[in-house]
Amino acid sequence: MGIFRKKSIADLVAASKTGTTLNKELGTWDLTMLGIGAIIGTGIFVLTGAGALTAGPALIISFVIAGLACLFAALSYAEFASTVPVSGSVYTYTYATLGEFLAWIIGWDLILEYLLAVSAVSVGWSGYFQSLLKGFGIHIPAALSAAPGAVPGLTSYFNLPAFLIVMLITLLLSIGVKQSKRVNNIMVIIKVAVVILFIVVAVGYVKPANWTPFTPFGMEGIFAAAALVFFAFIGFDAIASAAEETKNPNKDLPKGIIYSLLVCTFLYVIVTSIMTGVVPYPDFKGNEDHPISLVLQMAGQNWVAGIVDVGAILGMTTVMLVMLYGQTRVSYAMSRDGLLPKFFRTVHKKYRTPYGSTWFFGIVAALMGALIPLDELAKLVNIGTLSAFVLVSVAVLVLRRTQPDLPRAFRCPAVPWIPLLAIIFCGFLMAQLDGDTWVRFIIWLGIGSAIYFLYSKRHSKLEKEIE
Ligand code: ALA
Repeated sequence: MGIFRKKSIADLVAASKTGTTLNKELGTWDLTMLGIGAIIGTGIFVLTGAGALTAGPALIISFVIAGLACLFAALSYAEFASTVPVSGSVYTYTYATLGEFLAWIIGWDLILEYLLAVSAVSVGWSGYFQSLLKGFGIHIPAALSAAPGAVPGLTSYFNLPAFLIVMLITLLLSIGVKQSKRVNNIMVIIKVAVVILFIVVAVGYVKPANWTPFTPFGMEGIFAAAALVFFAFIGFDAIASAAEETKNPNKDLPKGIIYSLLVCTFLYVIVTSIMTGVVPYPDFKGNEDHPISLVLQMAGQNWVAGIVDVGAILGMTTVMLVMLYGQTRVSYAMSRDGLLPKFFRTVHKKYRTPYGSTWFFGIVAALMGALIPLDELAKLVNIGTLSAFVLVSVAVLVLRRTQPDLPRAFRCPAVPWIPLLAIIFCGFLMAQLDGDTWVRFIIWLGIGSAIYFLYSKRHSKLEKEIE
């Protein structure tokens, strides 16, 4: 027993049947839209600037590498998430299969993913928002425009727009505003439309000479950029966690995952090749906060730049909603199991939302976004997410051996190869991240383990059941 104690799958299934059953109404199309809605955000609208400075025009290769890592991981993730029909995340499933401690670690990694992704996207949002305000002649005072040290040569203390947008999103979630399928679909159409608008308008300004040298920083630059722009693909796990609401998970889930990743990879590759074709890559220096609209401004298309700004702002807002919602779901589940204090499962009497979790994580995410530069945040999100993907892929392999007959709503194809490729690709991208990111990640895991042994292990519901 102890740290490897497990929840019973039969109990989980029974519990999910007694609760409200979710409507099985999602098909391939809805899942694809759900995925694109959660995926397209700060990664493509902002991190491409830093990416171009790291890899040069070869940034498109970085995007392909990161996209492949996600595709392999997503197929394993989908098997894992669809095996036990409980809503929520892989955290619960790990609990039933690999035991409490690993479930805690995955939950703890997911906090790094969701919570800091909200912060990271808020910084991207702020850059575009400020660029839009500038178009109207409004300037946020420098001191309140960015995190300390985020912009070389600028004395700033606090990213006020980033802070405020996360507080607004927290407020919406805490009063029960969930994104409906319809709103999501409209947002996705707007996001994809502005990306296509960018492509159509900017393509005429491409000067192929800007693509040489294609790999100014060699393979090293390509891989380092891949580890950064991996962030642009995060969010597809939202599809896997909708397994329970899917009409035909075995067919629709993999299709939804593959289609949304293919659409995004395709758009990303075209956008980055146009960006580096219009603007010589060194010119992104100092303009990393809104590279896509910068490209349009440099092409003299200020109007289009304004439209793209608005689309990007709306698009990034929905990504934050989805991520903070995911965060509250995971922490609610962890608290229900006794691993986090009761505060995280307090439900508001009137709004029926996990009020404690929402405000706690909302405020933390807002402060992190206001005080930490974007690339630091994105790298931490990436290392947390990549490590969760590695664990999930290992778990898929282990469970195929230990519980081969467990009914699986979706089976990952070509096992063991796909999970192995996921482990290799994700592990490789983790290895590309810098020493500082690793140190922070190890500290994060250290804090997580300490909380587990000092608090969670003793307060776990399973511990009480044994007593
Ligand atoms: N993939 C999401 C984004 O780029 C997190 O904003």
